[in-house]
Order: sequence, then C-alpha cells, then structure tokens
Amino acid sequence: MKKKILVTGGTGYIGSHTTVELIEEGFEPIIVDNLYNSEAVVVDRIQKITGVKPHLEVFDLCDREKLDRFIQKHNDISAVIHVAAYKAVGESVNKPLEYYRNNLLSLINLLEVMKRYGIPDLVFSSSCTVYGQPEKLPVTEDAPLQSATSPYGNTKQICESIIRDTTVSDKNIKAISLRYFNPIGAHPSALIGELPRGVPENLVPFLTQTGYGIREELKVFGNDYNTPDGSCIRDYLHVVDLAKAHVFAIKRLIEGKNKTNYEVFNLGTGKGVSVLEAIKSFERVSGIKLKYKIVGRRAGDIEKIWANPSYANKELGWKTLSSLDEAMKTAWDWEKMFRNNKL
Ligand code: WQD
Repeated sequence: MKKKILVTGGTGYIGSHTTVELIEEGFEPIIVDNLYNSEAVVVDRIQKITGVKPHLEVFDLCDREKLDRFIQKHNDISAVIHVAAYKAVGESVNKPLEYYRNNLLSLINLLEVMKRYGIPDLVFSSSCTVYGQPEKLPVTEDAPLQSATSPYGNTKQICESIIRDTTVSDKNIKAISLRYFNPIGAHPSALIGELPRGVPENLVPFLTQTGYGIREELKVFGNDYNTPDGSCIRDYLHVVDLAKAHVFAIKRLIEGKNKTNYEVFNLGTGKGVSVLEAIKSFERVSGIKLKYKIVGRRAGDIEKIWANPSYANKELGWKTLSSLDEAMKTAWDWEKMFRNNKL
C-alpha cells in the first residue's frame, strides 16, 4: 500500500518537483493548492514525467472548514510536506498583512488538523532568510537567527517557532524544517520549472528571460560589496536536489529515525557563487553573451551567504548532485521549452 503524502503548494515550483520525486520513490502524493502562483495543468506535466497524475484539490489552506473536510475525506494521509506560502521578499514589504495571514494561518490550520486527525509527521519549507547576514560562513543550523529583514523572512522564523512549540507540547507531532538556500533550475525533462508571474524577483528566471529576449537587460544590484568581484554571493542549488531532500526528510520521520521531535537542516551546496559568476555560468551553458548593467544595491539584500550542509549530508544522507552549470542549463532549457510553447 503506497503511503499517501499531502503536498501543499504541490503545483508550484518547489512543490511540483517534490511531487515528482515522491512518485519516483513509490509514495502517493496528494496536492492541495490555491493556484495563487501556479497552474493546475502542472499535474498533467507531472503525469508526463512520471506516468502518474497526482490528485489535486484546489482550495485555500486558510479555509479551516475546507481543510477539515479534505482531511476527513482523505483519512489515510500519513504525512504532510508543507510548501505552500507566499514567498516574494519585495512583495512582502508592500503587503505584510497578506503575508502574515497567509503564511501563518495556513500553517496553524494544518497543525490543528494534524493533531485532530492524528497525522504525526510534517516537513516544512523554511528558508536561509531566517539567518539574515550570518556572522560566520558557511552557516550551520545552530547559527543565531537574526531579526528578519522582510515580513516574508519573519513569517518563516515565526512558522519555525510555531512548529517547534507544537512538537514540544504534543509528542505525537514530529517535524523537520528544511532551510532552503537558493533553488534554481528545472526538471531535466523541461516539463516543469519556475514560472514567475510578471517580472521575476529572483536572479535566475530574470537571467534566462533576458537571455531569451523577453527582458531588455539584467540589472546587477550592486558590485560594491565586500566580496571578490563585488557582487553578492548566494548558494544556488538545483531544484531537483532540493526536491529529493524532502523525500529523505519525510522518510526519516515516517521511519522514526529522527533524533528529536523537531529538527532543522540547511539545504545548500556549501559553495558560494556571486551574481557575476552566475552570469558567466549562464553564458557558458547557453553560448549567449548576456546583456547586464551594474546598478545600485537592492534594499534588503544581504551581502553573502552559503550553507554548511554537512549536517544534512550526514543525518539525512542527502547531498547536492548537480553543479552550477548543470542546474543553470536546466533553467535555460526550461525557458526555451516554455517560450517555444512546446508544452
Ligand atoms: C539573488 C542575488 C540579488 C535579481 C531568494 C528568495 C527568498 C529565499 C532565498 C526561498 C541577490 C541578485 C537578483 C536581479 C540581481 N528563497 N539579483 N538582479 O534575494 O537571495 O532570496 O532566495 O525561501 O524567498 O527571494 O534571491 O534570486 O532574489 O537574488 O542582481 O534582477 O541576485 O541582489 O544578490 P535572494 P534572488
């Protein structure tokens, strides 16, 4: 009997890749998504990749009644992977209340129904944004959390606290928070990928859209940082590697291999890459000379962050497999596939 795993946000960028990996590993993912930042057609593309079309129910996790009815109907859900959230840093500064309501209430509703219906295991999508600008690099899970630089980052910090406190008060609930660094790229089939609505906030989709000619030029937000080439440094990991980590984490909980009822793991390559190095990677894999201009710094950006992933490597038995160029190539292949309407 396949174990049924609820994937919230399962038609989104991270959620869809995680759903594919769950199917490949013999699980039965079931998706709840409100399609705020994704499309239902993604389940058909998941079917093309895996041969399995995951069941999708479209409603908002903030609607407690609907969530309750959904869990009663699917009373054989073994565990939850909670990926659904608003995640645009800039947007969160302009719409803090929407971000706090959506990201906090959806989690609280989820935890309440997990307690009510006896679903024990939760994997939560967190973010390296909780570290702010770390004092020490590479950053480990025990690094002090700085006060968030955006409402989005603050919702991730608060959600981690809500989960931790719940696992302390209710021993039946065990959870893992996965602190994502910077996910990039797409599934090698180029059938699913990052599909930002409007002007992309994140570097790589803006970069590939510039390469394709949709954007005039890439603006590099500052080259006066205290880094080797002056541009900001991040830890870019392939989204498929990131998705696989969710399978490792949910199996750890289901098999009872967790050491404590609440664990946190950094998900990164352990390698820092600057904006200018990312541009060079794109140029290598695409053969295109990218048009970009150095402009002023973006408010809220931290200077440099990259993970020490050794705890996840050791405890989860997970590590990134793709190089920067391999990940960047999948981002470029996805951009071309999507734009050429080959989907
Ligand atoms: C990366 C670098 C920019 C766009 C993101 C998400 C956040 C979290 C972590 C999930 C920065 C520079 C960008 C552009 C640029 N993910 N840049 N020109 O800010 O590290 O955070 O990953 O939880 O939700 O926002 O990623 O891709 O926005 O920026 O120069 O047009 O690229 O200054 O140094 P960031 P990003």
